[in-house]
Amino acid sequence: MNDRPDSAPVLPAAPTLDQAALARALSGRHLIGGRLVPAASARSFDVINPATGEPIGNAALGEAADVDAAVRAAAAAQPAWARVPARKRGAMVASCAALLREHVEELGRLIALETGKALRTESRVEANTVADVLEFFGGLGSELKGESVPFAPDVLSVTVREPLGVVGAIIPWNVPLLLMALKIAPALVAGNTVVVKSAEEAPLTVLRVCELMNRILPPGCFNIISGYGPECGAPLVEHPLVRKVTFTGSVEVGRIVARAASSKLIPVTLELGGKSPMIVFSDCDFEKTVAGAITSMRFTRQGQSCTAASRIFVERAIHDRFVEALAAKVDAMVMGDPLDEKTDIGTIISPEQFAKVRAYIEEGTRTAGAHARACSAMPDDPALGKGLYVRPHIFTGLTRASRLVREEIFGPVTCVFPFDDAEAVLAEANDSEYGLAASVWTNDLKRAMRFAHRLEAGLVQVNQNLVVQANLSYGGVKSSGLGKEASLEAMLEHFTHKKTIMVNYA
Ligand code: NAI
Ligand code: MG
Repeated sequence: MNDRPDSAPVLPAAPTLDQAALARALSGRHLIGGRLVPAASARSFDVINPATGEPIGNAALGEAADVDAAVRAAAAAQPAWARVPARKRGAMVASCAALLREHVEELGRLIALETGKALRTESRVEANTVADVLEFFGGLGSELKGESVPFAPDVLSVTVREPLGVVGAIIPWNVPLLLMALKIAPALVAGNTVVVKSAEEAPLTVLRVCELMNRILPPGCFNIISGYGPECGAPLVEHPLVRKVTFTGSVEVGRIVARAASSKLIPVTLELGGKSPMIVFSDCDFEKTVAGAITSMRFTRQGQSCTAASRIFVERAIHDRFVEALAAKVDAMVMGDPLDEKTDIGTIISPEQFAKVRAYIEEGTRTAGAHARACSAMPDDPALGKGLYVRPHIFTGLTRASRLVREEIFGPVTCVFPFDDAEAVLAEANDSEYGLAASVWTNDLKRAMRFAHRLEAGLVQVNQNLVVQANLSYGGVKSSGLGKEASLEAMLEHFTHKKTIMVNYA
């Protein structure tokens, strides 16, 4: 811990593999205006390792005063940043990517410590993806183009893409590095400056990323504050100098954020929950589809994903065989210490989420007619006795009356249903308040295309179910959100406005 809160902590410039020491060194700080600073109140809150229940450090407790300082720093830096040529801004973001690439192992270990996500299957992968996203957007500076518009002879009429100003970004804990990168990279390349409010469960790795990027970016362009939603997130959305908000998290908070943004009349992008269907026809490649269900359900992330295939519909002829094969495969996955290379599945993020997921499982288990297959043994290491481990569950026999089928569980729980009729299963798949992602598994391409067009989702995949990819627009319909991320179009539509300029030279 820092016992002298006013002295700036010394963070290693070189990558470090001592994640515990790094967590302590990052403790108790926001990053505002290029400097690591304590909270205005000097207060902080503990950051807990969910695999052991032990604190690994703490985070600055941000409130309105911290938000104000960060937003003012971002606002002060924005005009000069916008005047940096767009390609140069892109090149700087790409340099950040190269620097982060050197720190992948460090960041992977730190995110595993903080979130309980397994290093090999999730955390290291996420750290690499962040560099990918920054590299991708770093190359898009010269795509911030406008048009010339025919209007009248002797009048030159053009549009130019201008940044919006200060962007407020609120991120969750499930994939904090990636979800932050999807927001900050396009915002910065487009000439905005950013204040990120990190998730209270995972504030340290994103702070390290911000600190590393601040070695390259001018001070004030990228600021990060930590704190709780109502005390720190809400004032960020409401701050008069914040001209755009981008949020990933729950539907409930998404609505609060949208209301606050609408009363300020500022644009908002929302990436919210999902209850994604996976539809499996009997003519699919069986083994590939069973393996695909494991990826689709994001079992290696404990199902803590908004695109998790939490409703799996399987044509009756192969249903029973599919359930058994899936259960056997999940059962063979190793649950254990997130930092151990052998581990496939780590922990749930927090006691709150743990209790929530367990309540769903208990309710499903008690439901008449339902059958639960609990897979993967609990870790036997006594050091992990307090870890937030939940065995993956595969339910059959549930009906739409069950909350497990309708609500986002955000845990390692999926429900499998047999179906007989293609039209009926399509209607059932669409019968959800959510519309984020969907997948169809079949070798009948005509049927796959019919489903692809008629499934109500922002992303439909056939015979695969990958996570968000750079340059493929990503974002849901219905209660799953507003607007798109991850693509060139997302950068242009959500982080710039189009100004029209008319020059009369008659
Ligand atoms: P949450 O929506 O409460 O938190 C997400 C972010 O919003 C955090 O940074 C939080 O501090 C902030 N926040 C909370 N209240 C706020 C407010 N009034 N104003 C501004 N910011 C606020 O999500 P939580 O509690 O972590 O998880 C609850 C459920 O939300 C999960 O079980 C899951 O179903 C869903 N969720 C969905 C995610 C996604 O990727 N779409 C990510 C995380 C959670
Ligand atoms: Mg919440």
